[in-house]
Formats: sequence, C-alpha cells, structure tokens
Amino acid sequence: MSNSTFYVTTPIYYVNDKPHIGHAYTTVLADVLARYHRAAGDDVWFLTGTDEHGQKVQKAAEKNGMTPLEQCDSTVVRFQELWKRLGITNDDFIRTTEERHKKIVRAILQDLYDRDLIYKAEYKGYYCVACERFFTEKDLVDGKLCPDCQREVDTIVESNYFFRMSKYQDWLIQYITEHSDFIQPAFRANETLGFLRKPLEDLCISRPKSRLSWGIELPFDADYVCYVWFDALINYISAIGYGVDRARFERYWTSCMHLIGKDILTTHSVYWPTMLHAIGLPMPKTIFAHGWWLTGSRKMSKSLGNVVNPMDMADKYGVDAFRYFLLAAMTPGNDASFTEEDFLQRFNTDLANDLGNLLSRVVKLSIKNFGGKLPAPPPLQPLEMELVSKAGLAVKQLECELNAMRLDRGIGAVMNVVREANKFLERTAPWTLAKEGKTERLAAVLFAASQTLEIVSALLFPIMPEKMTLLRRSLGLSEEEITKVDFASLREYAAGSPTRTMVDLPPLFPRIVVEKPEEDAPAKPEKQKKQEVKAPKARDTVVPEGMVTIEQFFKTQLRTAKVLEAERIEGKTRLLHLKVDLGNGDVRSLVAGIAQQYAPEDVVGKTIIVVANLMPAKIAGFESCGMLLAAKSETSLKLVTVDGGGCEPGLTVG
Ligand code: ME8
Ligand code: MG
Repeated sequence: MSNSTFYVTTPIYYVNDKPHIGHAYTTVLADVLARYHRAAGDDVWFLTGTDEHGQKVQKAAEKNGMTPLEQCDSTVVRFQELWKRLGITNDDFIRTTEERHKKIVRAILQDLYDRDLIYKAEYKGYYCVACERFFTEKDLVDGKLCPDCQREVDTIVESNYFFRMSKYQDWLIQYITEHSDFIQPAFRANETLGFLRKPLEDLCISRPKSRLSWGIELPFDADYVCYVWFDALINYISAIGYGVDRARFERYWTSCMHLIGKDILTTHSVYWPTMLHAIGLPMPKTIFAHGWWLTGSRKMSKSLGNVVNPMDMADKYGVDAFRYFLLAAMTPGNDASFTEEDFLQRFNTDLANDLGNLLSRVVKLSIKNFGGKLPAPPPLQPLEMELVSKAGLAVKQLECELNAMRLDRGIGAVMNVVREANKFLERTAPWTLAKEGKTERLAAVLFAASQTLEIVSALLFPIMPEKMTLLRRSLGLSEEEITKVDFASLREYAAGSPTRTMVDLPPLFPRIVVEKPEEDAPAKPEKQKKQEVKAPKARDTVVPEGMVTIEQFFKTQLRTAKVLEAERIEGKTRLLHLKVDLGNGDVRSLVAGIAQQYAPEDVVGKTIIVVANLMPAKIAGFESCGMLLAAKSETSLKLVTVDGGGCEPGLTVG
C-alpha cells in the first residue's frame, strides 16, 4: 500500500431486483480496502452506484407495472439501505440516470462520432436479454444458446452504430502484456489474452428506440439510445469529474482499482480499455476480478433464483460477523460456496471461541486481579516476548497479503495469533499465577495478551468496525485511540502503552448453538450431504453426486480424544453424556447414542475418534461439541478406537 491516492470502484449494479450476497461481497471488499487505505493515511475515493438503463431494467419495470424511472427509484434505495446497514463507507454513489453522468456519456459519444470512431452499419446479431450482450454466431452454444447463461438468444437484424473496437486489438494485447498488474489475478489476464487471440470485432453501441427506449439518446441520432454497457462503464470517470473537474479527475483516475466479479471480465478488460484509449485517457491501475459465490456448486444469481439475502444474514447474525465471513471464507479470485452451516462453523470457531474467549479471559482476569488496571509491566519473559513479536509479525503479514489481494490469508495470519495467544494463556496459566500470588508474572502475562489483542483488534478493525470498537473500548482505549489503527504505528508498537482501565462488556460474539432433534446427532455416520449437480462448465472438474473431493473430506477434522467421564442421562435409554479430552486443554461435553452397547464405566479411559469441528448442538439438555465415530449395524455398535489402545489425545486422524 504505497500509493498516496487510492480510488476503488465496485460494479454499478442493475436495479432490476434487490441486492444479494454477491453484490454485498464486492461492496464489502471494496469497503475494507478503502478502510485499510484510509488507515494507512492514503487519499481514498470509494465509488459505488447503480446501472439503471437498458433492457433488463425496462423489462422489470414492465413486469412491475411501473415506469423505468419508478423501477429505478424504488430499487436503488434497497442498495443504499443495504450499504448503510453493512457499514459501507463509499464517498459517492452514482446512478446512471443522473444528469452529471448522462451529459458525459453524450459528450464522449459525440466526440468519438466526430472523430469517425463511431460509424453506422447494418448488423445481424444474437442478443441475450438476460445478459444484455450481443453475440456473434460463433460465440453461441449449440448455435442458439447464450455462452454465459445458456438461455436462448434472439436473432436481430438492424442498422446500428458501432465503435471501432477492432482497431485497438494489437494495442490492447501489448498493453496487457507489458502491464502485468493491470488485470488481476494473473490468470484472468491470460483469459483476456486468450479472448484476444480471436479477431476483435467492432462493438455495437446503439439500440433502435423501436426496440428499446430506456437509455441515453445518441446525441447524433434521436432514433437510437446508447447500449447499456457503453453507458455504464463511463460511470467510473463521470463520477470523479471527467470533463468537469480536471483536478479531481487527475488526482484519482490513474490510481483506480476496479473490483468486479468474473462474470463481467470481458466488458472491463476489453471494452473499457479500448473505450478509454479511444477517448485518449490512461488506463486504470488495476482490474481485479473475484470469483463467484456459489450455492452448493451453482452460481448464485438473481436470474437463477438461489440467492442469499445479505440483509437477512446481517439481521440474524450481525453485520460484522457477516462481513468477516465474506472476507475470510473467499480467496479473492476463486469461487467460494456459501452455506449457513459454514457461516456458523466459522463464527463459533474464529469469533466466539478464539477471539471472544481471548478477550473475555484477559479482561476478566485483569479486572479480578488488578481492578482492570494492569501495572507497568515488569521485564517480559521469553514466552511473553515471543507472543508480542508474533503479533508484530502478523501486522507485516496482513499488510503483505493485502497488497497481494489475498485478504483471506491475511485474516488467517491474524487469527493464528489469536490462537497463539490462547495457547500462551494455557501454557502460562495466569489463573494459577493468581492463586499462587505471583502478581508480577501475572501482570506480564496479561500485559502481553492484552497487547496482542490491541494489535489484532486494530488489524481487524476495517473488517469489523463495530465489534472492534467494542473490543478496544473493553481494553480501556480512549475513543481517539480506538479508531487509530494505522499500520505504521502498529509496526512500531512495543511495550509501554499508557495505563488503561479495562471494562467487562457482554460477550462480543456469543456462541450460536443450533438446537437439533436428539436422534439427529449422536454416533450416527454423518448424513450424506446433499450435493447439487454442477452446471456443466467446460473448465471445471465435475464432482459426481455422492463423491467428495479430498479438500471437502479434510474439512472434517477428526481427532483422537480420551474419555474422562461418562454418565447416563435420565429418561434417555440410548444416550450417554461424556466428557472428553481433545488435548491442549480442550475438554468438551459430548452426547452419544451408545448407552445400549456401552456402560459408562466401559468407555471411561478409552481413546476414541471424534469429529472435532462439528457444529455444537444441544441434545437432551446437554451441549454436544463433536461426534464420536462408531461402526454400526442394525444390531451392533462398536466404537472406533486407535490401534493398540491408548495414545495421546488431540492427534489428527486422516
Ligand atoms: O453486471 N458471486 O450488474 P449486476 C460474487 N450492471 N459476486 C457476484 C455474484 C456472485 N454470485 N453475483 C453478482 C452488472 N456479483 C452490471 C455492471 S459495471 C460498469 C456494470 C457481483 O447487478 C459481482 O461484483 O449483475 C458482479 O460482477 C456484479 O455483482 C454484477 O452485478
Ligand atoms: Mg449480472
């Protein structure tokens, strides 16, 4: 993050329907990048908005019995409200129906027309209404289907205006080749170069009003409106003052990062650069195309009707947890699958268990032993120093991953430090130090842990601004310190922050326990998860129904565990309530349906295999965190144990 200016954009979204998780993802990603850059002291401009012309919007308006503008006005607020709800800090919101945009589009059209870069010709083409895209015959699948959405296309013959895009093919190939950072990730640049191996055709940029009236009228022919993509792409420059406010435009334009989904790569990596070049403008710095959020293995989209509503997620689980999940669970560039189960899993592990626990341990112990005010720390012991230096290292790691647009890995590095800090507390056992009256060491241990929390909370601040504000308040930071989260000062962070008073607040991320019917959970082989059949896509490997990939299999963490205690549950003849040790102080309560085959005293002391990352459930009134493995038939049940009997608890099985 060495730029002093950073201009970040999201696609402008169609207003034919309400926003879904895919829109939320791109916008949250842009917001988080903007917040990190602001924290680094950069001059940031963050733009989002809506794409309001074209056939899609016109059709939606007809369907809803509204005028197109009424359709826009009623839908745009859903985006604006969602961004507000999700804590999005955009500096501007552009609607393509605004005059400030339309006048720039008209000026550009006129200029290109005057310079003979736009001409009129007869055209035969194939048009996909859903994608708002024209295709040539060779693009089609089976001679009639849209290559993007597989819907049947319309055949169209008419006179239209064309932009001389073909003229710029060689220039574009050379530009992409010489600027390896222009299109990211690199494999998307290769994809674009692959596309450019075929001759590039001129781009049809008009629609006769007889067919489509909802658009910006061509300044040189009142019978036509502008093609929606030609209009939409220009938002990125019209919004920052192109043609109006030269200083502002020049200040931001060349630092621009366009964040987009891979569905709109070609329009951004081919149409847009050639348009800019024809206008005589330099290129944006980066076009970054992320992957898709899938439902199961299918694309999630408005048109497929399998979408996750981001507003519901925020209402149900909180804005920050949702933002965290979106960023932690997707490697930008690749596809990711969304399930509520994965969400809960990550929530309980990363946020409730790891981060939430660390905070509550540190704050409670500090309050109990020092009234919340840690004394100036004595010299730190090696363990304390090691922890603080690991936290310092996470600052560098996150910074580096951010620059490489691998935010998920950056978050991973930060969460590792949180786990290290929890381990550190288990090793140093401050609760024992307190009992033994070893006050000096206790203060040093709590100091190191709270320093770590302070760094971690600063690093996660742009992702979870509300929760990290609370966390930092709980650590006793002043309101001014709470929002001061720049990397530069964190890097220099060392011992000796001013004495603060910690306060105990309600848990930041209370664990979410999912109630399950009792016959669902214990000792059964895990139900085969329903897998949706993949939409056929040439490049993807198809996973047949009922099969899992090795990555999917290893999502299940199997570990050895030692049974410490076992008891029958009153009124439940099938169930035993167990206390099992999974190593490293991880002792859990677990309910298993083995009471008809095993008496409590038979299982105590056994080393068994447990699914360690199963969503916790409440069974017969007890929390059950994990599931043991057993071999079963109609008539018998045998626990799966380890060859040769006892071994250490907590070992990985797989
Ligand atoms: O394409 N996973 O608008 P749009 C991840 N108006 N991201 C997704 C997604 C998914 N399943 N679905 C949508 C348009 N997105 C044009 C853009 S720009 C000048 C004009 C996100 O409403 C992703 O960013 O169809 C994708 O590129 C965008 O929404 C498409 O939104
Ligand atoms: Mg779309």
